[in-house]
Amino acid sequence: MYYNEPSQETCLVTGVAGFIGSHLAESLIAHGYRVIGVDAFVDFYPRATKETNLAQLRQSPNFQFVETDLRSANLVKLLKGVDYVFHLAAQAGVRTSWGDGFASYVGHNVLGTQRLLEAAKQTGVQRVIYASSSSIYGNAATQPVREDSPTVPISPYGVTKLAAEHLCRLYTTEHGLPTISLRYFTVYGPRQRPDMAFHKFIRAILTDQPITIYGDGEQSRDFTYVGDIVAANLAAMHHGRAGGFYNLGGGTRVTVNEVLRLLQEITEKPAQVVYQSRQLGDAAHTSADTSAARNELGFAPRYSLMDGLRAEAAWLTELLAEPAMQLA
Ligand SMILES: NC(=O)c1ccc[n+]([C@@H]2O[C@H](COP(=O)([O-])OP(=O)(O)OC[C@H]3O[C@@H](n4cnc5c(N)ncnc54)[C@H](O)[C@@H]3O)[C@@H](O)[C@H]2O)c1
Repeated sequence: MYYNEPSQETCLVTGVAGFIGSHLAESLIAHGYRVIGVDAFVDFYPRATKETNLAQLRQSPNFQFVETDLRSANLVKLLKGVDYVFHLAAQAGVRTSWGDGFASYVGHNVLGTQRLLEAAKQTGVQRVIYASSSSIYGNAATQPVREDSPTVPISPYGVTKLAAEHLCRLYTTEHGLPTISLRYFTVYGPRQRPDMAFHKFIRAILTDQPITIYGDGEQSRDFTYVGDIVAANLAAMHHGRAGGFYNLGGGTRVTVNEVLRLLQEITEKPAQVVYQSRQLGDAAHTSADTSAARNELGFAPRYSLMDGLRAEAAWLTELLAEPAMQLA
């Protein structure tokens, strides 16, 4: 993976209190950058969890936190003096994007992105690096998917992530604003969102609760460790084509049933599994062809699934040992 020399350049990270944004901001500071972090504490999961994600960052003199909403903030003012923008703020989650929930997805994911790009265009930002998603491919007929595979999302969430990616490309081609879209494939590791499968599985095993699997558990995912996603974001500051998009997949495509087997081995505890019908919007399989990211960003995932699962399980074990968390 390519890295950059330490500098006093300033990065803006949107969604900094979230799972991936908090890891990215910590890494940027460790590499010598100043970071302005933005978050609106959207109530998809508790603010207390996000405050914990921010705890280490708040101790750094190179970190400034701004609590604001991209849908309404004065973004031109916010971007003054900013060299790089990492845009991770979004309403995440596939299942809640149906029905009345959709308006919120459009606001956070599409309008928020458009307002940010509009401001970046005016303020001389060097690059905007956008957190796109494998959900834009939907149920691809051919696996692994390449960047030129058809983008046919099967969830409203995926539609909003694709729309925002199109906006990034448009601001590059029509306005000359350099953007890069990184298409993350299911990300896991410490701080993973509480609605995500591994978090739910590990928590349930550790607290002797049943685990609900939607479908027969034979659906497979290309799981990507958060540290590998962070490294690719740093590489995308100086490498990769403006207006381009890159798949970021960990390279270990496994079924949900296999993950459960590994988690029982790691925790040395049995899982109580209940199978229910498949949920609308869930892709059957995801698998990334990462040749472009490997060639142009130097992307080379370093974490094995077993090591990544161990890290996430260790984090949750520690978290659950805190009295307040046992009640959550
Ligand atoms: N986690 C994954 O597996 C995954 C996979 C593909 C893509 N992504 C993308 O990566 C990004 C980060 O995902 P995550 O899992 O860390 O999610 P997260 O929910 O933990 O973090 C997103 C953060 O953005 C904030 N936010 C949302 N709307 C905002 C707004 N209008 N203004 C300011 N802040 C706002 C939220 O409060 C939250 O803290 C998202 O864009 C997501 O779509 C994640």
